[in-house]
Amino acid sequence: MVCGLKKWVFYSKINYRSGKKHIMDLKQLKKDAEIGISLIKNTSDLEKWRIKYLGRKSVLSLFFNSLSELSLKEKKKQGQKANAIRQLFSSLYKKRKNDLESNLSFSSNFIDITQPGEKIRQGHLHPLTSTLSDITNSFQKMGFSIIEGPEIETEYYNFDALNIPAGHPAREMFDTLWLRSNNKDKFLLRTHTSPMQVRFMETNQPPFRIIVPGKCFRYEATDASHEIQFHQIEGLMVGENISLSNFKAIIEEVVKDIFKHKVLVRFRPSYFPFVSPGVEVDIKLKQKGRSKIQDANEWLEIMGAGMVHPDLFKRVGYVTNRWQGFAFGLGVERIAMIKYHIDDIRLFFSSDIRFLEQF
Ligand code: FA5
Repeated sequence: MVCGLKKWVFYSKINYRSGKKHIMDLKQLKKDAEIGISLIKNTSDLEKWRIKYLGRKSVLSLFFNSLSELSLKEKKKQGQKANAIRQLFSSLYKKRKNDLESNLSFSSNFIDITQPGEKIRQGHLHPLTSTLSDITNSFQKMGFSIIEGPEIETEYYNFDALNIPAGHPAREMFDTLWLRSNNKDKFLLRTHTSPMQVRFMETNQPPFRIIVPGKCFRYEATDASHEIQFHQIEGLMVGENISLSNFKAIIEEVVKDIFKHKVLVRFRPSYFPFVSPGVEVDIKLKQKGRSKIQDANEWLEIMGAGMVHPDLFKRVGYVTNRWQGFAFGLGVERIAMIKYHIDDIRLFFSSDIRFLEQF
């Protein structure tokens, strides 16, 4: 106790035995503390203030220790006053702490509305996606429904059902990516969208007109116009009097819609085992373009097509000689290359942002 009192005397420089002195010094202490806290600008100074005025070795604590030396009556009186001051200090401390913390969070959440905004990079459709949707929209305008088919196909639908049995030379056209098979079926990644002709006809009766957009895969060396994966849009229109001239009229309209100017369309005889007769379809844009494939007013091949082979109708159980129709398989990359003047198909899947940002 003696030691505590000595300390108290040292800090307050008053005589602990004098009640009056105690009262005066408490008033002074209160004043000092209030002025001190009003000048505090940061939390570390506030902590120093707390230790000085509310800490275990603070003047106030030492004052409390000294009270035991006073008479009971005086102890009670001074104790009440000191308690009131301690409560005041605590609330001053809490309030200042709150103020500083909310100022801190204000400054960290502060938004300077005069600053120029940060530019948000916007993505956009891949050129193939927009070409696909342009083409499918055009066909939809002409009454075609969009159907989807599996990318993993069976050997039957990809080849046999299309008059391409094992050993048929036409299988040479499709270097196939074969998958692990079970006892019943041999599986592969479809090499074209034509398997959907038979799949659709098996469960639907004419008349109908459909397109089947989707990804195809061929195990072949890549070059500027061949990729290992690419997109086709299969088309199939079957009715009682559907002819190649209907096909030509539809294709002319669709191609004009996609390229937004007049296009010439021509058929060249070709062979696909699932159509008869078979044709290759070429287009010529009436405007000179910039890309190699579009230059020089040359004819550009865009798809294989033909009249559906009667074998296919027979295979799906259609009444003989009642129905006829055309089918086609359009290369989507080819159309995108012509439309956007791209001279290498490999750019589409290269994920090169410098290429993609041009569209
Ligand atoms: C076929 O795939 C036939 N199924 C098309 C068909 C459908 C004919 C219906 C008759 C009736 P072809 O192999 O020619 O045909 O391919 C059609 C189009 O797909 C080509 O004109 C070309 O644009 C595109 N294509 C074919 N192979 C590739 C490849 N490796 N890379 C990019 N595009 C390709």
